[in-house]
Amino acid sequence: MSPKIPFLRPSPAPLSQAIDQLREIEDSGVYSNFGPKNSELEQRLLDGFFAGRGHCATACNATIALMLALKAVTEDSQPQRRYALMPSFTFAATAHAALWAGLTPIFCDIEPDTWLPCARSETEILERHGKEVAVIVPYATFGAALDLDRYAALAERFDTPVVVDAAASLGTIDQAGNGFGTGFPFPVVFSMHVTKTFASTEAAVVYADDAGLVARLQTMSNFGFGEARHATMAGLNGKLSEVAALAALLRIDGFNQIVERRRELHERYRERLSGFAFQRPTARRQAHQFVPVLTPEGADPEAISAALTAAGIGHSAYFRPHLAGQSYFQKTCVALPTPATDEVSARALALPLYDSMTEDEIDAICDVLDVFG
Ligand SMILES: Cc1ncc(COP(=O)(O)O)c(C=O)c1O
Repeated sequence: MSPKIPFLRPSPAPLSQAIDQLREIEDSGVYSNFGPKNSELEQRLLDGFFAGRGHCATACNATIALMLALKAVTEDSQPQRRYALMPSFTFAATAHAALWAGLTPIFCDIEPDTWLPCARSETEILERHGKEVAVIVPYATFGAALDLDRYAALAERFDTPVVVDAAASLGTIDQAGNGFGTGFPFPVVFSMHVTKTFASTEAAVVYADDAGLVARLQTMSNFGFGEARHATMAGLNGKLSEVAALAALLRIDGFNQIVERRRELHERYRERLSGFAFQRPTARRQAHQFVPVLTPEGADPEAISAALTAAGIGHSAYFRPHLAGQSYFQKTCVALPTPATDEVSARALALPLYDSMTEDEIDAICDVLDVFG
C-alpha cells in the first residue's frame, strides 16, 4: 500500500502542457548536442541564479557532471595526488564520481550542527596528506550554503582545486544575498533531478566563474571533441537532450514561489517539532528538498520509523549508513574516524516535503512524532 503522505511527490513542470515547445524541438530536428533549448537554459540559469556573472554548462545529471568536473581539475595533478577529500555524510554519487575519475575518496567528518564538512577535520587531513590530495570535494549538505571563501583559501594554501557538490542547492541564497556559488572560480555542481527542489527530469548544471574551465567541461561532455570528431581531451557523453532542457526551462518560471512555499512548510515543521534537532541554517534562504531532522537523544529511530510507517507517512534516512558504512566504499575509500558523522547519521530522519503539501499534512505528521519528543 502506498503511504497516505508520500516522502516526496515530484512535480516537474508538465511537458504535456508544452506541446508547442515540444513541436518546436521536432520541427528544428535538433534533439541534443547543445541545441537551442540547451543554450537558452544555460543563459537563463546564469541570469536567474548567478546574476549573469560567470558561466554555466549543463549535463545530463549531476553524477556525470561531478565526474567531468573532478577529471577536469585533477588531470594535470602529480600522480601522488590521488585523494578526493569529501565528507562521509553525503550521497553515494559523490564518492562514485571520484572513483570514476580515478581518485580515491578520503572521508572527513562533519560539523555536528550544520552537518557541513568539518573545517578542523578537513584541515587536519590536508595538513597530514596535503601532497596526496588532488581535490577537495565539499558537499553543501541538503541545500545549505558553504563558506566558499574558506574553500578558496584552502585551495590557495594547499595548492589543491575544489569541486563543490551542491546537488540540492539550486535556489539557495547565501548570506551575502547571492545565489549560492556565484563568483566561485572552481566548479559548483547542481542537480536538477526530479526529486530536487528544482525538479526537471534528469539534468544538472555546472557553474564556475572561469570561462575556460566551463568551456572545457562542455567539450569533455561531448566525447572530448575539441576538434571535429577528434578527441583532444578526456571525454564521455554527458550532454543534455533538448526535451530534458525544455523540462528544466519550464521549471524556472514560478520557481521562486516554490522555494518560498517550501521554506514556509519547513518552518512549520520546525515550530512543531521542538524535541527534534534541525540543521543549523547557513544560508539566507535554503532550498529545501525534504526535511532532515535528528531524532531526540535516546529515542529509537527504528521505533519512530515504524510509527510513521504505521500511520501511512513516507520518510527516509539520509544518510544512514553514511559512505564509510557502505560495503563498496569500505573496499575502495579511506575512512578516518568521524564521530560527529556517526552520531548525526545514527539519528537521521528525513520527513516529507513537496510543493503541494498542506499545513494539515504537516500537522498530521507532527502528531505522530509528538510522543517521541
Ligand atoms: C549529494 C549528491 N550528490 C550528487 C547527486 C547526484 O545527482 P544526480 O541524481 O543528478 O546524478 C545527488 C543526488 O541525489 C546528491 O544527493
